[in-house]
This record gives sequence, structure tokens and C-alpha cells, in this order.
Amino acid sequence: MKNLILVTGGTGYIGSHTAVELINEGYEVVIVDNLANSTTDSLDGIGQITGVRPAFEEFDLCNKPRLEKFFKDYPGLKAIIHFAAYKAVGESVEKPLMYYRNNLVSLMNLLECMNAYQVPSMVFSSSCTVYGQPRELPVTETAQILPAESPYGNTKQICEEILRDYIRSVEGIRAIALRYFNPIGAHPSALIGELPRGVPNNLIPYVTQTAAGIRGELKVFGDDYNTPDGSAIRDYINVVDIAAAHVKAISRLLKNQNKSDFEFFNLGTGKGSSVLEVVNTFEKVTGVKVNYKIVGRRTGDIEQVWADTTKANVELGWKAVRSLGETLLSAWNWEKKLRGIK
Ligand code: NAD
Ligand code: WQD
Repeated sequence: MKNLILVTGGTGYIGSHTAVELINEGYEVVIVDNLANSTTDSLDGIGQITGVRPAFEEFDLCNKPRLEKFFKDYPGLKAIIHFAAYKAVGESVEKPLMYYRNNLVSLMNLLECMNAYQVPSMVFSSSCTVYGQPRELPVTETAQILPAESPYGNTKQICEEILRDYIRSVEGIRAIALRYFNPIGAHPSALIGELPRGVPNNLIPYVTQTAAGIRGELKVFGDDYNTPDGSAIRDYINVVDIAAAHVKAISRLLKNQNKSDFEFFNLGTGKGSSVLEVVNTFEKVTGVKVNYKIVGRRTGDIEQVWADTTKANVELGWKAVRSLGETLLSAWNWEKKLRGIK
């Protein structure tokens, strides 16, 4: 019998790529999503890539009675990967309660159900945002957690604390929080990818939309940082590499059936790239020019961050293997597919 895994937020960007990797590794997947930031097209994409269209239940995880019904309908769940959350930093500043309610209540509802229905394992989507601007680079998992820059970032910090405290208080529940750096790109098939709503805030969708002619010009936020070319540095990581790490985390949790603990791992490449390096690499691999202009810094941005990935490499047995060029090309192929560009 295959191990059944609940993927919350599984029609979304990272969740859909993870569903593909889980199915390819022989897991059975059921997705719960309320489609607040995704569509069922990704289920078709997952089906086309793997040959298996996963089971799908559309509802809001904040609806506890509905979630209880779900756990009754799907007995024998082995683990949960909890992606579902709101994630727009700017929106969280404008609507903090919406973010706290959605991101905290959905986690707490799931934890209560895990205990009640004996589903012992969870992988939680966390973020490098918990580190802010670290004092030392590359940043390790033991770096100090600094006060969050946004309500969104704070929900990730609080969720990690909720997990830590809850796991201490009950027997037999274990979790792994994966702290993603900057996930980018799309599946090489271009059948699934990221669907940004409105004007993108993140760099890569802005680059691909500018290349596609949807945006007139990319604004590069700052060229006066203390970095080699003056633009800010991040650790951009291919979404398929991120997805593969979730499969490793699930396998680790399933092997440690009797352990009750909480671990966290950085998911990055271990290498930082500047905004201008990203633009140059994009132009090189796609042959498409990106019209850009240097403007002032964006409020709240940090100067530079990249991951120390030793812990994930050694303990999870995982390593990011896809290059920045390959990843940017996959993002461009996805954009072209969305816009019908040949
Ligand atoms: P996404 O918006 O594409 O996917 C999240 C999914 O969760 C969406 O499909 C949305 O409809 C669903 N959802 C939200 N609230 C829900 C609720 N209450 N009930 C049911 N479904 C709900 O986002 P993503 O980029 O795939 O991110 C997945 C996770 O990874 C999030 O927790 C996010 O905070 C975290 N993360 C993302 C990034 C990134 O840059 N994309 C970086 C670090 C961490
Ligand atoms: C990357 C770099 C910008 C847009 C955010 C969240 C973080 C995490 C990942 C979830 C920065 C520059 C961007 C543009 C630019 N998400 N930029 N012009 O800010 O590292 O992180 O996404 O957890 O929490 O804060 O990612 O893609 O927005 O920016 O010059 O139009 O690109 O200044 O240096 P960021 P990003």
C-alpha cells in the first residue's frame, strides 16, 4: 500500500511541484486547497506530468468542522505537508489580521486534528525571512531569529514557535520546518508554475513579464548596496529542488516513527546572486533583452542573504542541483506558455 500524504495548498506554486515529486517517488497524494491563490489547472498539470491526477478537496483549513470531516474521510494519512498560507509581504502590512487569522488558525486546526486522528508527522513551509539581515553569511539554522519585518514574516516565526511548543506538550508528534530562501522557476515541462496575481512583487515574475512585454521596464531596487555590483543579493533556488527536499523530509519523518521532535533546515543553493546577475543570466540563457532601470532601494529590503546548506546536505541527504541559468530558462518557458508566446 502506498503512503498517503496530505498536501495543503497543493494547487499552489510550491505545493503542485511537490505533489509531482511525491507521486514520482511512489506516494499517494491528497490535496486540500481553497483556491484563494491558485486554480485547479495545476491538478491537470500534475496529472499530465505524472499520469496521476491527485485527489482534491476544496475547502478552507480555517473551517474546523470541515477539516474534521476530511480527516474522517481519509483515514490512514501518514503525514501532512502544510504549504497553505497567505504569502504577500505588502498585503500583510495592510491586512495583518487577515494574515494572522489564516496562517495561524489553519496550522492550529491541523495540529489538533493530527493529535485527534493520529497523523504524527508534518512538514511546515517556513522562510528565510525569519533571519532578517543576518550578522554572518552564509546563514546557518542556529542564527538568531530577528524581529520580523512584516506581519507575514511574523506568522512564519509564530508558526515555528507554535510547532515547537505543541510538539513539546504531546507525545508522538514530530515536524520539520523547511526555511526556503527564494524559490523560483517552474517545472521543466512548463505544465505547472507560479501564477502571480496582478503586478508581481517578486523579482523573477517581474523579469519574465518584462521580457514578455507585459511590463514596460523592470525597476532594479538599489545599486548602492555593499555588494560587488551594488545590487542586493539573494539565494535563488529552483522550485523542483525545493520540492525534492520535501520528499526527503517526509521520508525522514516516516523513518523516525517513534520520535517526537522538531527540526528545521535551510533550503537554498548556498550561493548568492545579485539582481543584476539574475538579469544578465536571464538574457544570456533566453536570448531576450530585459529593459531595466536602476531606482532607489525598496523599503524593508535587506542587503544580502544566502544559505549555509550543510545541515540539509548532511542530515536530510539533499542538495540543490539545478543551475540559475536552467532555472531562469524554466521560468521563461512557463511565462511563454501562459502568454501563448512561441
Ligand atoms: P501559493 O499561494 O502559490 O500556494 C499557497 C496555496 O495555499 C494557494 O493555492 C492558496 O489557495 C492556498 N491557501 C491559502 N490559505 C488557505 C486556507 N486557509 N485553506 C486552504 N488553502 C489555502 O504559495 P507558494 O509560493 O506555493 O507558497 C507555499 C508556502 O511556502 C507558503 O506557506 C509560503 O508562505 C511559503 N513560502 C513561500 C516562498 C515563496 O517565495 N514562494 C518563500 C518562503 C516560504
Ligand atoms: C528579490 C530581490 C529586490 C522586484 C520575498 C519575501 C520573502 C520570501 C521570498 C516568502 C530584492 C529585488 C525585486 C523588482 C527588484 N517569501 N527586486 N525589482 O524580497 O528576497 O523575498 O520573497 O517567505 O519573505 O520577502 O524577494 O523576489 O521580492 O526580491 O530589484 O521588481 O530583487 O529588491 O533584492 P525577497 P523578491
